[in-house]
Amino acid sequence: MTTNAAEPLTPERLMQFAWGYAPILIIAAALRHGVFDLLDRGPRPLAQLVAETGTSVRGLTAILNALVGLKLLARVKGGYALTPESATFLVSSKPDYRGQFFQHHTEQLLPQWQHLAEVVRTGKPVARTNRELDGGEYFARFVESLFPGSYPAAHALGQHLGIPKATAPVSVLDIGAGSGVWGIALAKQSSYVRLRAVDWPPVLEVTRKVAARHGVADRLTTVAGDLFEADFGEGHQVAVLGHILHSEGPDRCRRLLQKTFAALAPGGTLAVQEFVPDQGRTGPPQPLIFAVNMLVNTEAGDTYTFEEMSAWLHEAGYRNPRLLDVPAPSALVLADKPRV
Ligand SMILES: C[S@@+](CC[C@H](N)C(=O)[O-])C[C@H]1O[C@@H](n2cnc3c(N)ncnc32)[C@H](O)[C@@H]1O
Repeated sequence: MTTNAAEPLTPERLMQFAWGYAPILIIAAALRHGVFDLLDRGPRPLAQLVAETGTSVRGLTAILNALVGLKLLARVKGGYALTPESATFLVSSKPDYRGQFFQHHTEQLLPQWQHLAEVVRTGKPVARTNRELDGGEYFARFVESLFPGSYPAAHALGQHLGIPKATAPVSVLDIGAGSGVWGIALAKQSSYVRLRAVDWPPVLEVTRKVAARHGVADRLTTVAGDLFEADFGEGHQVAVLGHILHSEGPDRCRRLLQKTFAALAPGGTLAVQEFVPDQGRTGPPQPLIFAVNMLVNTEAGDTYTFEEMSAWLHEAGYRNPRLLDVPAPSALVLADKPRV
């Protein structure tokens, strides 16, 4: 980032970074004590909230006031109340609930990030938190929180591929399906869509639950196991790798792209959702920060440029790697398997 020479240099930006951890920990503590869910039933005075949550007056007062300062709660006549933002995203019964995501950060990511300096020295995570450790328990705890963030992009993908106009069966392979967001969004656009979701057994329980909630469970086949061993089947018109490649190093990414190519029907399309840095890895900040997250949490994961992914896609036999503009914080790369 460049600074404007005319503006005086201040440490303000740095000092804001220094307190960057506080909002997510405050939100996670409030979630843990059920504050947003309770306030969804109506505004409450402090004493009632203390009684209902079993917390201390001193502790709850501090975080409630901080949440007012962060505009996630409002002070009203009857005590504390939700704001439109917290009512929409931090109440566990709401479809756009993101609470699990904060718990993922505070309980699963922050403890690992505390070791960043050591990880930088060794180039290895201090503890392997990904798949080999627990066969999916790690992911099962937070994949559902990714659903609302990716659903609009998945919906846009379906529109782009003409799924609502399908007149013949469309087989969709969802690799590392998680909540099943990609396949479910497509299945809701056409009754012709059939889903094959591959993931670890505990995650597939989540996939099935979410698919049932969306009324598409009867068109879902699940395949449990390691993506590198599992049977992807064949002849799929669509395959999706949603936020999968970043957990892997380049060699395993290339293997996965090749395996997926073999599972696609001629003329089929692969969609890869990823945090994509620019070619020189100078920005945007999010994909570069996420690369550090992969440094901390995986053996060889990283974020990859469009040019890197395009080269792997060409090498595997795909044609026409391209970016599809979708409403999501991360990018969607498409590529086709040639018809002949
Ligand atoms: C970051 S989540 C993404 C989930 C989903 N595709 C989405 O876009 O929301 C990664 C998913 O891939 C699964 N996964 C990662 N590596 C895997 C492996 N080697 N075998 C099976 N599943 C794996 C995880 O269990 C998790 O559900």
